[in-house]
Formats: sequence, C-alpha cells, structure tokens
Amino acid sequence: MTTTVRTRVAIVGAGPAGLLLSHLLEQAGIESVVIDQRSRDEIESTIRAGILEQGTVELLDTIGPASRARTVGHRHDGIELRFEGEGHRIDFAASVGRAVWLYPQHEVLKDLIAARLAAGQDLRFGVTAERIENGDRPRVIARDADGAPFEIEAEFVVGSDGSRSVARAAVTGSSTGGYFREYPFAWFGVLCEAPPSSDELIYSNSPDGFALVSQRSATVQRMYFQCAPDTDTAAYSEAQLWDELQKRVPGTELKQGPIFQRDVLRFRSFVAHELRRGRVALVGDAAHTVPPTGAKGMNLAIADVRVLAKALRALLLDGEERLLDAYPETVSRRIWKAQHFSWWMTSMLHAAPDATDFDRRRQLGELRTVVESEHGRAYLAEAYCGWPLDV
Ligand code: DHB
Repeated sequence: MTTTVRTRVAIVGAGPAGLLLSHLLEQAGIESVVIDQRSRDEIESTIRAGILEQGTVELLDTIGPASRARTVGHRHDGIELRFEGEGHRIDFAASVGRAVWLYPQHEVLKDLIAARLAAGQDLRFGVTAERIENGDRPRVIARDADGAPFEIEAEFVVGSDGSRSVARAAVTGSSTGGYFREYPFAWFGVLCEAPPSSDELIYSNSPDGFALVSQRSATVQRMYFQCAPDTDTAAYSEAQLWDELQKRVPGTELKQGPIFQRDVLRFRSFVAHELRRGRVALVGDAAHTVPPTGAKGMNLAIADVRVLAKALRALLLDGEERLLDAYPETVSRRIWKAQHFSWWMTSMLHAAPDATDFDRRRQLGELRTVVESEHGRAYLAEAYCGWPLDV
C-alpha cells in the first residue's frame, strides 16, 4: 500500500536550503513537506564548513532565537593570506564594512531542525526519494524508513537534495548534465582538541601546498591541508598530520592536541545546465557545487532559497509565474560569481601537481597583487563576506 501525502510544496532534502525554504514558505502561509533519506542524527553530526556570510546570518535571524549564529558563533572581521612565510591581513571591515560568522553548518542544521519541528513542520527523516514525476501536479516517488512506498503530490517540487541529487534528473533530463570541472587535489581535514593557534582564519600558500587554519571553539580547532584526491584518511599518523600542517604554515607555531576526526574533501565545480523545468526547481548543491576554498557552498544555497521563496510566493499566492521564470537567470548571476571566486581562491592558493617554476612565481605575483592593492583586497573581502542578496 502506497501512502500518499498532499501538500503545496514538496521539498526533497533537509539540508540548510530545504529547511530554510520550508520556514520562508510558512512565513507566507504556504504549507510544505520536507523529506530526507538521512536520519536526524546523521544530518546533525556530519561535519561541514563553518563560515556564514553576513546575509546568511541575517536570513537565519528570521527563525528567531533558535538561530545561535550570533550567540554561539563568532564574528570575524578579516582573514589572513599567507605566502612566502609572511601573513597579510584582509580587513573586511575596512574594505567593505561587512563581516562573516564562524558557525559550523551542522550547528545551523540543529537550529533549523529544532525551529521547524517546534513550528509543526511535516519533516520526515529516513524517507528516500527515488524519482520525481514532473507535470501539472508533480509527484515525489519515495520509500519510507521501513521501505514502504511513499508519495508526495504537490503543486511544486524543490530538489534540495545535495550533490548526488535525485531531483536533478526531473529538471535536466539526466542525473549529471551540467558544467563541470575537477581539480587535481583535495583537502585533508582534521578536528583537534587544542586552543586556537590564531584569532582569525589563515589561508596559506606554501611550497608544500595549501593549508587552512580555522577554528571551532576555545578548545576545538578545524584545520585542513592540501592532499592528493585519493588520499586515505588512515594514511597519516597523528604526528605526521601535525608535520604536514605545520610545514605549510611557516611563521605560526600550531598549538597541537589530540586529533579526533579526519576526513578528505574532494573538489569539484559544477553547475547544472538547467535549474528549473515546469514545476520542479533545484537549489543548493543539487544545482551547483563549488570547491571549499572560500566557504561559499552553504551561503550560495541560502541565496538560491531566498530567490526561490519569493518566486513560489508569487506563484502560489498570486498565480504569478514571472519570478519563477526568472529564477534560473537571477540565481545564475550569483552562482557564476561564486564559481569564479571559489575557483580563483583555489587556484591562487594551491600547488598544482604539474606547476612549473614559472607558474609558482606567477602565483606569488598574483597573491602580492591582491594584498598590495586596495582593489584586490576589496574584491576578496566583498566576495568572501557575500554580495548583497539578489532580492
Ligand atoms: C572552513 C571551511 C572552508 O572551506 C573555509 O574556506 C573556511 C573555513 C571551516 O570549516 O572552518
């Protein structure tokens, strides 16, 4: 027996994009159902990036005190770019009068899930979408946590189901169709129990490759170093991990402590060829992926959602399709700016395996151009803190 649920908007994927969308729709009186194949615990414990743009924090403020970004997170007014053993501060406040907040994505998810459940949102974990049937009344064909057939019939379906999106096929005609780029490196990420080695994030270009010194709290730190894409997380002893990190951040003595989590992050740039077809639209990683340098992924997802929420309000409350028709073009402008920024930060800071001496010196010239130019610093600061939201 198939269980069928009817609603106005079916949202596939309970990441930041899907959950925030359900909140913005509810604010407009539009009912939705959100499903995710993962358990609540898995969603709340998966370690992801930690930087929120100012506009993201402001949008999260609309869920009220449930958003702890400002209370538990930390405001950062700059970052350091390090190369040739010297640090150069990019002062966001001085350059663009904006800031970012260091607040990990899984904490954002805890806040959003708590707020949505408290608001009575129909939010179902362990429900796996198998395909979307596009049409006047699109349907999500899924299986519930017990493997029983489950369907959602809606007026609109949103695919916020991440980089391995099932919804994408209903929009682009295939699960892969898009603009795509791979990179010859990845990040080895660690979480460790130690005091911070720096007050602000350090993005370091060194002859041994890139490293990023980030933080989580007074007692837990997050750091990354460039590695080969096929690196096994067990390939390094703890002492070797500290060596790898330390040699890429000359000039700062890293405060060491037990490493309790390791992961390897693959790099991809991707934008789906189509972002909306008929009554199905894609947001977040289902629509696009960026390499992690610059932490644009979640922020871009949130920016999509803001535009789509407005378009769905116009469609479902006023029968007005204009904003929805404009959705792909509106969000594409920001998506491609973020693609450029993430690609640029990545290529400027990493050591490509086939780089020549010329390439390496040119890269240092590029870094020097950025830190020694008001315009260079302002571009980095503006892109890092986030362009103003489109609508
Ligand atoms: C973090 C991740 C990023 O990709 C980045 O650019 C900055 C910070 C982080 O996880 O803290």
